[in-house]
Amino acid sequence: ALIGEEFSLFAICDGEDFVVAKSAQDHKTIYDGDKGPNTGGVGSVAPTGAIDDLIIHNIEQEIFKPLLKGMKKEGRPYKGILYLGGMLARDGVKIIEFNCRWGDPEAEVILPSIKADYLDIVEAVRSQQLKKTRVLFDKKVRVSIAGCSKGYPGDYSKVLGKEIYGLTKAMKLPDVTIFGSGIKRSGKKFFVTGGRVFHVVGEGKSILDAIKKAYQAMALISIEGGNLHYRKDIGWRDIERLK
Ligand code: GLY
Repeated sequence: ALIGEEFSLFAICDGEDFVVAKSAQDHKTIYDGDKGPNTGGVGSVAPTGAIDDLIIHNIEQEIFKPLLKGMKKEGRPYKGILYLGGMLARDGVKIIEFNCRWGDPEAEVILPSIKADYLDIVEAVRSQQLKKTRVLFDKKVRVSIAGCSKGYPGDYSKVLGKEIYGLTKAMKLPDVTIFGSGIKRSGKKFFVTGGRVFHVVGEGKSILDAIKKAYQAMALISIEGGNLHYRKDIGWRDIERLK
C-alpha cells in the first residue's frame, strides 16, 4: 500500500451489526496515469490490493463499529450501506468522505460478487437480522471500465444521440457483463444519453485476467463518429503491486 492512495470500503449495516463488502478502488480522472479533470469515476477494481486484511480489520474496529454504536446511542441507528472513501496516511487511514449508498463504478465490481439473494440482505437489514444472515463474497477479481462520451466530464453534447455499436456482441463474451448508464435503447439499437455511457466489467481469477477480459470486450464497442473514450490503464496500481 502506498501513502496517499485512495480506496473505497462499504459496510452493509442493520443499525446494530455490519458486514464489510469486498474492498474496491475507483479511478477518478478522465485520462490515463490519473491525469485530467475529475469525473464520477471511470473505472474500478475489486478487491483492491491497496488495503490488506489487517487494515480492513482496523477500519472495522476503529471506524465502522464506533460509528454504528454512536448513531444507535444518539437514537439514529443506521440501516443501509455505508461508503467509506478512505486514504492511507502515514499514521493510518483517513476518512475522505462518507456516503449512504454504494459507489459508482464500485457497485459494478462488488454487487456481482455477493453469493446471496440481494433481497434477503435488504430484508435482513430492515429486520436487524444481519448477524444471522450469511453474506459471502466470491473470490473473483473484477475490473470495470467506463465507456464515456468524448468530451466528458466537459462538454459532450455533440455525442448525445449517437449510436453505440458492438454492445450486443461484447455482452456475449464469457466473464463479461455490461451495465448501461447513459444509454437509450430503441429496438435493437443503442444510443448515447449521457457522459458515462456504459460500464464493461471483466471477471477472472486474477487482476490480469479480469483486465484482459474487460478490454477484449471494450475493443468490440464504438460510438458513431469515433466518439468513444475510455481509459486504457484501469487497474494499473494493482498491476504495479505485482512487480
Ligand atoms: N465512485 C465515486 C462515487 O460513487 O461517489
